[in-house]
Amino acid sequence: MQVIATVAEMAAARASVPGGVGLVPTMGFLHEGHLSLVERARRDNEALVVSIFVNPAQFAPSEDLDRYPRDMDRDLELLARERADVVFVPTAEEMYPPGFDDWVDLQGPLVDRLEGASRPGFFRGVCTVVARLFRIVQPDRAYFGQKDAQQLRVIRQMVRDLALPVEIVPMPIVREPDGLAMSSRNAYLSPDQRENAIALSRALDEARQMVQDGVRDADRIRSRAQAILDETEGVSVDYISVADEQTLHELDVVDRPALLLLAARVGATRLIDNTILVPPGVAVSPLLADLLE
Ligand code: PAJ
Repeated sequence: MQVIATVAEMAAARASVPGGVGLVPTMGFLHEGHLSLVERARRDNEALVVSIFVNPAQFAPSEDLDRYPRDMDRDLELLARERADVVFVPTAEEMYPPGFDDWVDLQGPLVDRLEGASRPGFFRGVCTVVARLFRIVQPDRAYFGQKDAQQLRVIRQMVRDLALPVEIVPMPIVREPDGLAMSSRNAYLSPDQRENAIALSRALDEARQMVQDGVRDADRIRSRAQAILDETEGVSVDYISVADEQTLHELDVVDRPALLLLAARVGATRLIDNTILVPPGVAVSPLLADLLE
């Protein structure tokens, strides 16, 4: 396994690979969620590149860039075990050299809502770094988790808008046995907060059950999720959205595949989670079927 820190060396390593290349972009502190992407990418491609870069451009000044959990030794050990060919660990100066001005700043409702509204500049930072990773690594396929459902859709939009020659492969959410979606930020939670954080996935489970039982009224689903989170100590809701699965347009009626998207603070830690809602009898695409919980 090669560990590469410069753009020039990464580009040279890419040029020497004859077959298909899979890329898994991450910010490190790897968990089973990341590793599910890595394993799939390993199976799908002749060569596997994983990037680890805590991208300053996607953190607002008030956010946790300096505290973001890091453990490079452990990450490299895990990736060696997964038989990664290359781990790309650029510095901020490599990714954003002096004079860098190639920002990817998509416009429109898909990027302005939800995470885009709560975290101004977030998707500009994500799109810019992912587009740059794509140009440096030139992957045939890149793997993204449904955990960050809006990010996944924004990346797809970017790939379409910029006509980037890469296939985006979505992967289902990996959860802890009690339902909490795996996240590097779960490391911030105290034992009590860790307990309270289960309310997010409980709200999602209940919403899935409501839809299964025939509820179509999006307001009823939002209210029930709000109630579950409100009654949990130390949890404060940022947003609750029932939206079209593809466009993320807010829905009044769940009459098509939809997402329930949650963002909430548990103590000082901001967590996001989501689930797919499919009314009984509504057909889903094979790609979406693979993401169902
Ligand atoms: P990071 O949070 O490290 O996540 C890297 C990838 O792992 C993302 O595609 C994310 O959706 C996926 N992932 C995280 N938790 C998951 C889980 N529980 N189940 C399945 N997949 C999961 O997302 C980022 O980094 C950054 O924004 C990045 C895309 C690397 C750009 O900087």
